[in-house]
Amino acid sequence: MSTGSLNGRRRVLLTGATGFVGGNVAAVLSDRGADLLCAVRRDPGPDFPWPWRLTDLGDQADIRAALAEHSSTDVAHLAIDNDLAGLYRDRRAGFDAYVGMTGRIVRAANAHGASVAYLSTDWVFDGTGHRVAEDEPVVPLNLYGLFKALSERTVLDGADRGFVARVGGVQGRHLTQPSAPREQDCGFGYFVLSLVDALSAGRPFTVWRDPAINGVASPVIAAEIGARLLQAMEREADGVLHIVGADAVTREELAERACHVFELDPGLLRTGPVPEDARLPAPIPFDTSLATVRTDEVLGIPPHPLEAQLGALRDEVTSGRPHPLT
Ligand SMILES: NC(=O)c1ccc[n+]([C@@H]2O[C@H](COP(=O)([O-])OP(=O)(O)OC[C@H]3O[C@@H](n4cnc5c(N)ncnc54)[C@H](OP(=O)(O)O)[C@@H]3O)[C@@H](O)[C@H]2O)c1
Repeated sequence: MSTGSLNGRRRVLLTGATGFVGGNVAAVLSDRGADLLCAVRRDPGPDFPWPWRLTDLGDQADIRAALAEHSSTDVAHLAIDNDLAGLYRDRRAGFDAYVGMTGRIVRAANAHGASVAYLSTDWVFDGTGHRVAEDEPVVPLNLYGLFKALSERTVLDGADRGFVARVGGVQGRHLTQPSAPREQDCGFGYFVLSLVDALSAGRPFTVWRDPAINGVASPVIAAEIGARLLQAMEREADGVLHIVGADAVTREELAERACHVFELDPGLLRTGPVPEDARLPAPIPFDTSLATVRTDEVLGIPPHPLEAQLGALRDEVTSGRPHPLT
């Protein structure tokens, strides 16, 4: 790790800011004084809260132009084609949307002199480990994991400066589409608030129990990802970081702890199989919990316990503002 300036103001070009994680990252970076420019592919509308620029991530010259216009110090690459079935339907297009795009961003950043922060996933592993370390060789089970792993390698081998931050079990609100339905899926994303939505309305919530889906993860709130990404940029981190929570939990454990923190009735929890129409057309890693030993050293701070993160999420739901703990 380079020790670089800890106080320099970051000028961050962010991709994926209209998405779930990207919106939270944008909010936290902006709240913490980073100079943000969101590279978007279409006009995000009048309510979009951060500066934006239409940028074609298929065109390396346009990415370079965005970096130059903004005088970016960093590019945080979060944009993703989030359609697993689509990757299988058109593998060539999927490869370009992941690996090709990451390569264009890396080359543009190198030419401009910016660092690259690439957001990756716990699904680069096959789900047979537990609290897997940053330096464990990847072993993806499906095309999403494979293309993320290849994108990671593109950054690790190709970026003059930068790092890969794996996240997983991400909990939070979609800031730019707050009314979008929040539903349990075969990953851990949105799990807590979909449960909170149901139980708050007095409806039962069925926690899926199935060895063929993501059953264990290290949940982290989306706002915390923003805080730690900024910290990693300020510290000019390199290599692989794991930005996850301190606790590895099953879906049922997460459901029980969420009931406790949100003061909801655990008697409304059920367990059951995954509905057929929710299954994904590919193998899913089961235990994707991650360890953070190297990350703790690089960032100088351990991850937050699950209860604290759920408490911050509850505050966020009440206040309407992301509450990172770091
Ligand atoms: N959500 C999770 O639980 C989770 C877990 C692990 C890792 N991650 C990682 O977190 C990152 C963000 O995921 P997310 O869940 O926030 O995704 P998301 O909500 O689906 O958002 C995807 C974002 O990428 C943008 N995008 C997609 N294709 C693009 C293109 N060709 N050009 C420009 N922008 C494009 C979308 O823009 P539009 O609004 O225009 O469509 C949107 O802003 C990804 O790298 C993902 O691997 C997420």
